[in-house]
Amino acid sequence: MPLISVKDLRKDFKVLAHKSGLIGAMRNLFSAAGRIVNAVDGVSFSVEAGEFVGYVGPNGAGKSTTLKMLTGILVPSSGVIDVCGFSPPHKARTKLARRIGVVFGQRTQLWWDLPPRESYDLLMRLFGVPRGVFELRLARLSGLLELEGLLDTPVRKLSLGQKMRCELAAALLHEPALLLLDEPTIGMDVVVKEQVRKLLRRINEAGTTILLTSHDLDDIEQLCRRVMVIDKGRIIHDGGVDALKRRYGNRRRLVADFLDQPKLVLPQGAEVASIEGLRATIDFDADKLRAPEVIAAVVAGNRIHDIAIQECDIAEVVKRIYGEGK
Ligand SMILES: Nc1ncnc2c1ncn2[C@@H]1O[C@H](COP(=O)(O)OP(=O)(O)OP(=O)(O)O)[C@@H](O)[C@H]1O
Ligand SMILES: [Mg+2]
Repeated sequence: MPLISVKDLRKDFKVLAHKSGLIGAMRNLFSAAGRIVNAVDGVSFSVEAGEFVGYVGPNGAGKSTTLKMLTGILVPSSGVIDVCGFSPPHKARTKLARRIGVVFGQRTQLWWDLPPRESYDLLMRLFGVPRGVFELRLARLSGLLELEGLLDTPVRKLSLGQKMRCELAAALLHEPALLLLDEPTIGMDVVVKEQVRKLLRRINEAGTTILLTSHDLDDIEQLCRRVMVIDKGRIIHDGGVDALKRRYGNRRRLVADFLDQPKLVLPQGAEVASIEGLRATIDFDADKLRAPEVIAAVVAGNRIHDIAIQECDIAEVVKRIYGEGK
């Protein structure tokens, strides 16, 4: 029995077509005219216990809307959702809240004027977690997320990264079976991002199922075995990260440092992605060209300092997918 099961899920929003000006404003008051946005347009997938799944797509693709329906905050327009045995989630929000942890990077579930410790205390009472158990869990999470020094500071005084660490602790204190994360690393510096990733990996290894959205594709590449890509409300890929790369072309990247300004004549299937100073980055289709052919073309007539071949990273792949969808 999967932990999440979604069939032909849809969410339509009616957006009023606002007219400007005074007369327009009057018309807005009385007119029910509007257009329908199909934010989630027939999505089906399931997630088994223990998985770590990435959910990516361009702005406005429908990721947050999907997650909100999974948590029961939003009521679907149609379709079937089962989360941790609750179907539909919006009819069992309180019970479901004990089984899932939720982090929306843009919002907080901590009280703004209270120190995190007090918010945690309230949440634990809400969930009926005994004090001794709560203190032990908090001590462990505080060590993992480096919360010492933050726990007694009002949330409004914390930086974005500090707030997010406290937020993750709030989502984990009741030890949920499923963690839904909407851009959990947004606004963090690289060091904190690394810490958060390490923590998420550990939580997943300890058995918590995780569904994560992120615009930082390093998050996905480093954490997720499986990635779902959504565009305009529809899932256009669901599978392994490697399969995604293969499906959208087997691309390689050659980075060459020259001793002086290069003259580049490239074979078909290879193109210059960027030139910065004396460094050229060249992408090529590895199904059409072999690396030695590209190297030979780059070396011909140029003085080379260094040369390297890399795999295109997932960010490049997804950028191309988004580009195709437009
Ligand atoms: N409450 C709402 N009322 C009207 N339209 C909405 C509402 N919430 C979302 N939408 C629209 O639904 C579509 C999907 O939005 P959603 O927030 O799910 O995108 P997203 O994939 O999370 O994007 P982002 O990467 O920017 O966070 C967008 O066109 C958005 O404008
Ligand atoms: Mg979003």
